[in-house]
Amino acid sequence: MKTIRDFNVDGKRVLVRCDFNVPMSNGDILDDFRIKAAIPTIEYLSRQKAKVILISHLGRPNGKPDSKFTLKPVALRLEKLLKRKIIFLSDCIGEKTQKKIEKMKPGEVCLLENLRFYKGEEKNNDEFARELAKLGDIYINDAFGVCHRIHASVIGISRYLPSGIGLLLEKEIKTLKNLMVNPQKPLKAIIGGKKVETKVKLIDKLSRVADFTLIGNLLSNELKEKNLEIEFPQKIIHPIDAIIEQGKELDIGPGTIKIFQEKIALAKTIFWNGPLGKIEEEKFAQGSLAVAKAIIESGACSIVGGGDLIAFLGKYNLRDKFDYVSTGGGAMLKFLSNEKLPGLEVLQK
Ligand code: 3PG
Repeated sequence: MKTIRDFNVDGKRVLVRCDFNVPMSNGDILDDFRIKAAIPTIEYLSRQKAKVILISHLGRPNGKPDSKFTLKPVALRLEKLLKRKIIFLSDCIGEKTQKKIEKMKPGEVCLLENLRFYKGEEKNNDEFARELAKLGDIYINDAFGVCHRIHASVIGISRYLPSGIGLLLEKEIKTLKNLMVNPQKPLKAIIGGKKVETKVKLIDKLSRVADFTLIGNLLSNELKEKNLEIEFPQKIIHPIDAIIEQGKELDIGPGTIKIFQEKIALAKTIFWNGPLGKIEEEKFAQGSLAVAKAIIESGACSIVGGGDLIAFLGKYNLRDKFDYVSTGGGAMLKFLSNEKLPGLEVLQK
């Protein structure tokens, strides 16, 4: 797979697929973690005198323009973070867009409007992919979070332009591959959240390399109720108690926290995906907080991922205490489950 360093980008129009799908409320960005993660690639290309053209989706606007999902706030946030002008273009294809891009000077950066304002994006429509490709000389995928999607800006476009990966995507692949192939042992995995069907593969694959996989109450109960088979049941540490309200198990209990803390303290590498309780409510966030603190204190190499967990760690200002925070949600689960990610496959060809 080529990376941005394999291209001479001087004076070239470089289309960079980013994942600026950030949580928003009334036009305000609630968390700019994914925007910050894209900065090294943007700065690198700008320093190399490329015309940097950023493309992304935001939310699920259903293939038509919807001001609720405009990327304008992202352009403003990028301006703040990069301390420089970011040109925002109100369309992501078309002649007008093309002309404005022609006028860009080497080193300048622009962001195009939400790709999902067009149906062709999610349908991986060839015509739409070609329209996008007209805007660039080189295509760079730096959007790990969408590599599991067969969309025009992830798949179709690479048919028409020399293509490679950006610095963020390179780092995601390297870190997660290393976790699965060559982690420092002992490795402990912690898997929370719900919808066990979506996590069985992940639990199996992680259990192949991990000494133990600690799971939250919801997953544990679902595993038992649905009688799902897992490859290494002896490696799974189930919770032994829970914080219960109105008959619902809403957090891991003190006995479980203690066991988890003990296991974590002995680890050299820790991977964590999915919160361990109903973290929206502080009283049920205590288990996840205790586990976060135990990981930080353990000094182990810590890798975390998954939208809800990342938002939670951000809320409690704990995120930068972890060694690696993945920008991928569903894409990361698929990658670690050893499933093929179309966005990476296409660039390997
Ligand atoms: C994500 O947030 O996981 C990615 O941006 C993909 O978004 P999607 O699930 O709407 O395709």
